[in-house]
Amino acid sequence: MKFSAQKGTKDILPSEIYRWQKAEQTFASVCHSFGYEEIRIPTFEQTDLFARGVGDTTDVVTKEMYTFEDKGGRSITLRPEGTAGVARSFIENGMTSLPTPVRLFYNITAFRYEKMQKGRYREFHQFGLEAFGAEGPSIDAEIISVVDIFFKKMGLENIGLRINSIGCPKCRAEYNKLLKDHFRPHIGEMCEDCRERFEKNPLRMIDCKIDGSKDIVKNAPRLIDYLCEDCKAHFEGLKSELDALGVKYEIDPNIVRGLDYYSRTVFEFVSENVGTQGTICGGGRYDGLIGIMDGPATPGIGFAMGVERLLIEAEAQGKLPEKPSHVRLYVAAMSDAAKKTASKLCYDLRLAGIGCETDLAGRSFRAQMKYAGKQEIPYLVVIGDDELANGEVKIKNMANGEETPVKLDEIVKYCQDNIV
Ligand code: HAM
Repeated sequence: MKFSAQKGTKDILPSEIYRWQKAEQTFASVCHSFGYEEIRIPTFEQTDLFARGVGDTTDVVTKEMYTFEDKGGRSITLRPEGTAGVARSFIENGMTSLPTPVRLFYNITAFRYEKMQKGRYREFHQFGLEAFGAEGPSIDAEIISVVDIFFKKMGLENIGLRINSIGCPKCRAEYNKLLKDHFRPHIGEMCEDCRERFEKNPLRMIDCKIDGSKDIVKNAPRLIDYLCEDCKAHFEGLKSELDALGVKYEIDPNIVRGLDYYSRTVFEFVSENVGTQGTICGGGRYDGLIGIMDGPATPGIGFAMGVERLLIEAEAQGKLPEKPSHVRLYVAAMSDAAKKTASKLCYDLRLAGIGCETDLAGRSFRAQMKYAGKQEIPYLVVIGDDELANGEVKIKNMANGEETPVKLDEIVKYCQDNIV
């Protein structure tokens, strides 16, 4: 029987892994430059964590979670996102008493049972970060500038930033009443999910995948027009911080985000290149989440970026990195005696941090040359009986054909100085 990868999952092969590694290293280094530290959280958590944290009226929780009972009878869910797990860890590991803001970043796989399409998978990867304990808009501007700087370091341009405020529970309560008044006469025309959302969480009706394009949804009152004074001031503060940083944005009153924990600031970075919905990165503030999870009331904010979508964007912009050549030198051996010397030389080179290869397959000299050429190894040294007798080899630069004579026992030093 032939096996194949599950629908919505993908192998990341050596022919593309360097793109991921470059993005991972760049993201980590930008996060470090702001003082964010990496956290690694488990792949699965108890199901209730997501039901409570992400929200039981969201599509993610009601339709998309990989949930199963383990052998101990516990309900377990593969994480559909990182925020709930990081928040759990923040509370559980006593990080609530650390000096604020507590700045954490992560690089995770996440799992959602979604319909496969360009940029949408069932197992996908997220770069994300969370900042706990800071209430003012400066941290909102800070995390947005993490994304902005990261895109710049990746060479990416013109990824639109859209921001909105969805208020706090105080303004939301007022707004929910208005929203219900708006939808009530039309509730019969709405989908089954929306009828349930109408009762539990009418804001969710705004980004319904089925009803979202109907006029009744498009003409619904917008939360941004009903913010309380504090939320208004917070949003104004964010805008002026972004202006001061020179980070361009558009205000998009339709962004409500698909997860329930958000309050006040929400934002998305979007591009047409990455598929129908176009969001590369989404995030926002969740001042109530730590309290909902029975931690001490602590404001929080964060974002997550889909790495697959990021790489689709990089490809569309022609900004994928060059494949690095980890193996710098091919050591060809022309005799059995030379083979032993070649093996020992490779050992010494690797110990010194220089990538190299020699033949292990019993190839002829010609076949060795062919192999080194195919692998595009940039330097070549040939060891034969003459070289062994003279104690000297020639190191050839394959790009320009230049050959440099080097003593056998000085090869490691030469390579360290010249070909790394
Ligand atoms: P999210 O909007 O659900 O937010 O996901 C963030 C990003 O993950 C999306 O913008 C998208 O790029 C990527 N993504 C989501 N689902 C898929 C999928 N099925 N296939 C490929 N990529 C996908 C969150 O996950 C929040 N935890 C973000 C956050 C952190 N908010 C505050 N802190």
